[in-house]
Amino acid sequence: MANILHVISSPRGEASNSIKLGNAIVDKLREQDTASAVVVKDLTQGPFPHLEVAHLNAFFTPAEQHTEENKAAIRHSNEAIQEIFNADVIVIGAPMYNFGISSTLKAWIDHIARAGITFKYTANGAVGLISNKKVYLAVTTGGVYSSGDYAAFDFLTPYLKFVLGFLGITYVTVVRGEGFAVEGLKDKALDKAIDSITV
Ligand SMILES: Cc1cc2nc3c(=O)[nH]c(=O)nc-3n(C[C@H](O)[C@H](O)[C@H](O)COP(=O)(O)O)c2cc1C
Repeated sequence: MANILHVISSPRGEASNSIKLGNAIVDKLREQDTASAVVVKDLTQGPFPHLEVAHLNAFFTPAEQHTEENKAAIRHSNEAIQEIFNADVIVIGAPMYNFGISSTLKAWIDHIARAGITFKYTANGAVGLISNKKVYLAVTTGGVYSSGDYAAFDFLTPYLKFVLGFLGITYVTVVRGEGFAVEGLKDKALDKAIDSITV
């Protein structure tokens, strides 16, 4: 039985293409393993705070010395990291905002990238500490980035692949839904993306 974590970062609920695409990936995973358990992490409900000094103080203070204030500040981060460690498969919905990920998703990443917990520095450089996870990215964009003039301006996908790899997650499959703002493409964009899913 696999544990699937579905991370949602679009605030658009039922209208969201990245949520629909992420759900389709989850459905295909569950067709393969009907006993899979799914945890949905909706980052738009009680969003992660941007990193403030209270979070940084908590991150860089050893747990055994944490004050009540440190404990409160680090709770989001600890929960999010635990959810990742508990998962076998992580589906991340990532709508493109201004050529990159949304600040909502970035805030989650800022809370899960923790030295000594999800990566560490060694004499040979940084080593990721999250192992044995499969990640599927449900990337949705108004334009087209898989080819053509804008292909060089997809900063979302290379960034997510790099930062996940930095944390130790190297099995990353990208599923693209693209052209949601392009006449002639937008009506079929979601179906095309769903058809392209291979798990
Ligand atoms: C604030 C904002 C910024 C966006 N920036 C881009 C962009 O830079 N490039 C692009 O192709 N689409 C952009 N889009 C379009 C979205 O990526 C596209 O509509 C996507 O399907 C949104 O995902 P969602 O339906 O899950 O919310 C933007 C949309 C919004 C709301």
